[in-house]
Amino acid sequence: MKTALIIPAAGSGVRLGAGRHKALVEIGGQALVRLALEPFRRIEHIVEAIVVAPQGAMPEIQEALKGVDWPTCALRVVAGGETRQDSVRNGIETIDADVSLVCVHDAARPLVTESTVLRVLAAAAEGGAATAASRPADSLRVDTADGATEPLDRDKAWLVETPQAFRYEVIRKAHAHAQATRFTATDDATLAEQCAGAKVTVVESDALNLKITKPEDLEVVRGIIEAVQG
Ligand code: C5P
Repeated sequence: MKTALIIPAAGSGVRLGAGRHKALVEIGGQALVRLALEPFRRIEHIVEAIVVAPQGAMPEIQEALKGVDWPTCALRVVAGGETRQDSVRNGIETIDADVSLVCVHDAARPLVTESTVLRVLAAAAEGGAATAASRPADSLRVDTADGATEPLDRDKAWLVETPQAFRYEVIRKAHAHAQATRFTATDDATLAEQCAGAKVTVVESDALNLKITKPEDLEVVRGIIEAVQG
């Protein structure tokens, strides 16, 4: 199934405190945005990849992606918006290939494996919407209305990650409806479910699929990538 890939990379990275946009922070000489594309490059049916860049850093993102070897895919950079949801919508609106599936993957998760991506794509092709996720290792508690907390069964909980994938018409409808009704969510699977009535299939990630948010996350990911690269 022909697939478009959207890489939201337009976050400011304030919490990372690296003094530059998060997607441009380098590990082993490569920017995070470039590392995040790596597991997708071998997937032949991805025919279009749209990197959503910070408004003020389009040239720097272009530069970071220079020379990416992906002859079967049209790779381009578009401007992001104020929120992640705005950025993903901007990316979706520029899809111009005749695709059946759309995959969304955050530039902040460079450790995702090709096999997780393939399983998420297959689940979305079958059911309409799918997300990568992991089980929490810690015990969980949630806030209650009276200001206290109560335990949550961690065996029933998922930590929702990217990649997420959708049939094209599902994600188009979800974002259009969300924009019209001012519905907001922190991930696209929630939009697909709440705004397009999709049933979301959860696919367990097959390896640590850490999201880089804080400086210590960056150091963990750096250590893993450098260990693999030898
Ligand atoms: O800020 P957070 O880490 O949750 O962002 C997740 C992903 O969404 C990151 O890859 C970030 O670059 C992207 N993002 C975006 N546009 C925004 C905010 C975040 O593309 N306005």
